[in-house]
Amino acid sequence: MGQLFRTKNIDQLIADSERPERRLNKTLGPWSLTALGVGAVIGSGIFILTGTAAAGETLTYHSILHAPVLDLLRHGLDAASTIGRPGAGPGIALSFLLVAFACSFAALCYAELASMIPIAGSAYTYAYATLGELFAWIIGWDLILEYAVGNMAVAVGFSAYFNQILESIFGVQLPRELSEPMFVGGQATGAWFNLPAFLIIMALTVLLVRGVSESAGANNFMVAVKVVAILIFVFGASSAINFDNYHPFLPNGFSGVMTGAAIVFFSYIGFDSVSTAAEECKNPQRDLPIGIIASLFVCTILYVAVALVLTGIANYTTLGNAAPVAQALKDVGLEGLRRIISVGAVAGMVSVLLVFQFGQARVWFAMSRDRLLPDAFSRVHPKLKTPYISTIIAGLLVGIPAGILDIGTLADLTNIGTLFAFIVVSAGVIVLRRAQPDRPRSFRVPLVPLLPLISIAMCLLLMLSLPLETWLRFLVWLGIGLAIYFVYGKKRTMSV
Ligand code: ALA
Repeated sequence: MGQLFRTKNIDQLIADSERPERRLNKTLGPWSLTALGVGAVIGSGIFILTGTAAAGETLTYHSILHAPVLDLLRHGLDAASTIGRPGAGPGIALSFLLVAFACSFAALCYAELASMIPIAGSAYTYAYATLGELFAWIIGWDLILEYAVGNMAVAVGFSAYFNQILESIFGVQLPRELSEPMFVGGQATGAWFNLPAFLIIMALTVLLVRGVSESAGANNFMVAVKVVAILIFVFGASSAINFDNYHPFLPNGFSGVMTGAAIVFFSYIGFDSVSTAAEECKNPQRDLPIGIIASLFVCTILYVAVALVLTGIANYTTLGNAAPVAQALKDVGLEGLRRIISVGAVAGMVSVLLVFQFGQARVWFAMSRDRLLPDAFSRVHPKLKTPYISTIIAGLLVGIPAGILDIGTLADLTNIGTLFAFIVVSAGVIVLRRAQPDRPRSFRVPLVPLLPLISIAMCLLLMLSLPLETWLRFLVWLGIGLAIYFVYGKKRTMSV
């Protein structure tokens, strides 16, 4: 029993990370870290989900499984009848602000823990140091959900946009059989394999195995492309704003803003992945908090600007399609801008894929070093100094399903996994403040325990806004994880 709640000593964790055969190269500074954060955050969410969230959906819950848990708690089984998803309208800009507000509390908590425990495993390692081994395993397992399932969804989105660019700019059309998912909503589509989705993950895997500074360099380039594309969109399209489109600003009142917030939460996921680069920073205590907070700040400003311009150039009711930004530009005749934003969107998705693949391998690396996963996962390549085995396995694990599945519905699963990790990190701040008040923290969350408690409450509210089905999938995922822990991991860590 004691073993389940045994915590890792922070000094021991840091000493383990310094062992030469398990030591990563320290090359990243504050700019690269911020770029890493922006790279992980701005991806498919802003370019795809903004439209759905603004326009809303008339959705029928066919079964109780589709109803958000919060609705079930409030209205009982009646919630399983027809309930639309009210659009936020132009007020989607407020939804982005609301989510930014919720994420910023979690970001502060990540920053404090990352500055005092600069170890690759991020929330997994923080949980090991604060809540004990069992919780650490649960969080590590949960982070696989965030990064792996999230990336499958982004890879499928990449493929769709990539096909569009091939067609609109180069006039090339890939055969349907090789460029679409094999299954959509559980139904076979007749397609064989989504090759672009698979190949992009494989290409990034090669890049990540070759070296972190090369990967950070490529990431910086893609971040620059997508940020410039967004700025060109914001300034270029603002002349086409028709102020009539802002009336009514909140067509469905606050409930539209809340629903929009639950949808666009996906677009903020990723700032936390900065903390997985902790062992590769030159000065983690100073630079990690800067990287986490700066990337959240930059993304919020860009998101709100895109939301305001988008709902200004097009009526929100027309935005419910797969490529709302490109479509809106086409409708107002800004073809040149449309191409630029498509390239920016693809660059955006590639950098999200890169950072999530990076983060995933680092979490496995840390779990393996703690003996919760096989030793091979924490082997560092003798010349390249990268965790090559975990990087390659992460590539195959994400690449193959991305070639087969339509992961749209699993985006919810990514959200629930991420929110759960945010809650554990926020609780971790409170626990460590009590358990180790004197340990140096170069960054401190103000007003502890109030702010971490607000963070926990907000994350819980967003989790409860997700459908019952997502909760059940999440619980099944955790159940499988627990089985693996008791059959495998627990025995191995016992002998440490
Ligand atoms: N935040 C990332 C995106 O929107 C996951 O693609």
